[in-house]
Amino acid sequence: MGNCLNSSSAQVDTTLSSHASGTSKNVSKSSYSGPSSLTISSYSEMSSASSLQTPRTEGEILLSPSVKPFSFIELKNATRNFRPDSVLGEGGFGCVFKGWIDEFTLTASKPGSGMIIAVKKLKPEGFQGHKEWLTEVKYLGQLRHPNLVKLVGYCSEGDSRLLVYEFMPKGSLENHLFRRGPQPLPWATRLKVAIGAARGLAFLHDAEEQVIYRDFKASNILLDAEFNAKLSDFGLAKAGPTGDKTHVSTQVMGTQGYAAPEYIATGRLTAKSDVYSFGVVLLDYYLEDVLLINKKRV
Ligand SMILES: Nc1ncnc2c1ncn2[C@@H]1O[C@H](COP(=O)(O)OP(=O)(O)OP(=O)(O)O)[C@@H](O)[C@H]1O
Ligand SMILES: [Mg+2]
Repeated sequence: MGNCLNSSSAQVDTTLSSHASGTSKNVSKSSYSGPSSLTISSYSEMSSASSLQTPRTEGEILLSPSVKPFSFIELKNATRNFRPDSVLGEGGFGCVFKGWIDEFTLTASKPGSGMIIAVKKLKPEGFQGHKEWLTEVKYLGQLRHPNLVKLVGYCSEGDSRLLVYEFMPKGSLENHLFRRGPQPLPWATRLKVAIGAARGLAFLHDAEEQVIYRDFKASNILLDAEFNAKLSDFGLAKAGPTGDKTHVSTQVMGTQGYAAPEYIATGRLTAKSDVYSFGVVLLDYYLEDVLLINKKRV
């Protein structure tokens, strides 16, 4: 977490990563093995998606009425000057800080009063970071569903790019699986999390303008106080194929270990790539138990 203390010297790590601790990056090509399809009923309660595939300018995306443009100083105040002790975590694109805002005016409030937020501060590393930041605002700014994390707002000022989310008190699924305390996550809770995450994916895949998430992994499944799962990190999300097309051709992006082999091999992306990654998360569940057993054996 050292980078969180000195963001001016931080650089994005562009190396490949393994899936248990991986950050989202280009992944290399490998051999094929086909995924099956996800068959879970979709969930329509309180969900919405306005037109996503219409090409929109950066200005139009940032003018979305459902997200607030914050100034840098507002977020500096909300996080108490990005204090090291308010760091919630760190990923490939920067550090995430805990902050407080007034829930009605959305202006910075005193620590401990108002609404808790999570502020992701992107490392100042240039074009790719900005592109993914904008993609996140484009998708999370419009998509609303109980199993997608809510984007409250963003900040774009000079070279600074920040994202403001609802705070998820139980952190990421990855933290519970691989960096947990003495108690492993009960299977009933794991199932609840898997079903919630599947509902989030099904919402994206079944939308009139399909969205392929491309970054399904344990660290991107965030948990609220009741262990309801919400998908986060839409920087790699991509519009699904339209008309009679079967796939979209893309530069291969994602996290090694979670990305589907046939997508890595061909660059052909379909919703099934997300389904493969979903299966890897289920494998993580099993892996957690194996690690626990090994730990007990030592
Ligand atoms: N909305 C949030 N509420 C609470 N904690 C959060 C929130 N968003 C992120 N975090 C914490 O910050 C950590 C880092 O998140 P981040 O998305 O930046 O990185 P990552 O998912 O671990 O890696 P990657 O860069 O591949 O996405 C998460 O593991 C989680 O613990
Ligand atoms: Mg993440």
